Amino acid sequence: MIDPAQLQQTLNLLEDAFGKDLQALRGAQELDALRAKYLGRKSVVAEHLKRLPELPPDQRGLVGKALNTLKESFEARLTARQHAFRTQPVASALDVTLPGSAVPRGRLHPITQTMEAILSLFVPMGFEIIEGPELEYEWYNFDALNIPASHPSRESFDTFFVDSRSPEPRRGRLLLRSHTSPVQVRVMQRRKPPLRILVPGAVFRPDPLDASHSFMFHQVEGLVVDERANFSDLKGTLTAFVERFFGPATKVRFRPHFFPFTEPSAEVDIACTACRGQGCSTCGRKGWLEILGCGMVHPNVFKAAGYDAVKVQGFAFGMGVERIAMLKYGITDIRLFFENDLRFLEQF
Ligand code: DAH
Repeated sequence: MIDPAQLQQTLNLLEDAFGKDLQALRGAQELDALRAKYLGRKSVVAEHLKRLPELPPDQRGLVGKALNTLKESFEARLTARQHAFRTQPVASALDVTLPGSAVPRGRLHPITQTMEAILSLFVPMGFEIIEGPELEYEWYNFDALNIPASHPSRESFDTFFVDSRSPEPRRGRLLLRSHTSPVQVRVMQRRKPPLRILVPGAVFRPDPLDASHSFMFHQVEGLVVDERANFSDLKGTLTAFVERFFGPATKVRFRPHFFPFTEPSAEVDIACTACRGQGCSTCGRKGWLEILGCGMVHPNVFKAAGYDAVKVQGFAFGMGVERIAMLKYGITDIRLFFENDLRFLEQF
């Protein structure tokens, strides 16, 4: 015979044990074991329910009801706990009312950003990006670009020579390249025309450091070679670049100039970004700012690279990335790019 008081005590003990086990749960994985223990086919509750028919009919209702109430309460508490695990993985350690701590975000250096902006405007025009060595032979940096040893323009490219024996004396001494133009020749030597390339990279000149000079800076070089690329193509390509980089209303002019590796040669100016062409201290009262050099590739350069200068023609250009970044952002001292002062860098 079932004693109702004894049954109640059993159920109370069972409920206490369940409460403790539930408290001790450490993760959702342990929930299943707990469910089997208190609600499974071999659980105390299930055993009692199975034995209900043994009871006198007048007690069955009462006992059955007590067992089912307990079962439902276990069920509900297990479900609630499961939900808590799912929505709050670290429920006990997390105070959602605390203010969050900001994670500082890194960014690219303004020169990298400017370099990428320049490249991204030429790539849709069919240019391919190629890099070359910073440690270069005298021959590539000068001779192959139509700058013979006796030529006075070598002096305008003051150069860091590297004090070690050249592995290929035929190509002259080793130096730190003073411009990216030598890569033109390297690429032409190993590839046939047509070519449409862009060469980004660091260059070096032993200039004393001041607001507009640094012994290391960056250039982007361009070279287009095929059977008919002409000066109009050069103007069209560079005008498209300037208008996309500095804005569609930017005034551009091509001014005759001299470079040994191009003929004819030009420098490209844009209307001063500070005074819009009125004349100010940024543009030296001229209203114009020089942004790049360009021209039709000199036949001697094609010859040095092994191309037939009668069959091919092309144009080249070169620009200083620091200079372009300074004009775009209104920066007046090139040294700011290299001091790694976060107060400066964080503005980009
Ligand atoms: N290499 C020149 C310099 O460093 C820039 C330049 C001018 C590159 C004209 C060119 C060019 O390709 O055609 O000053």
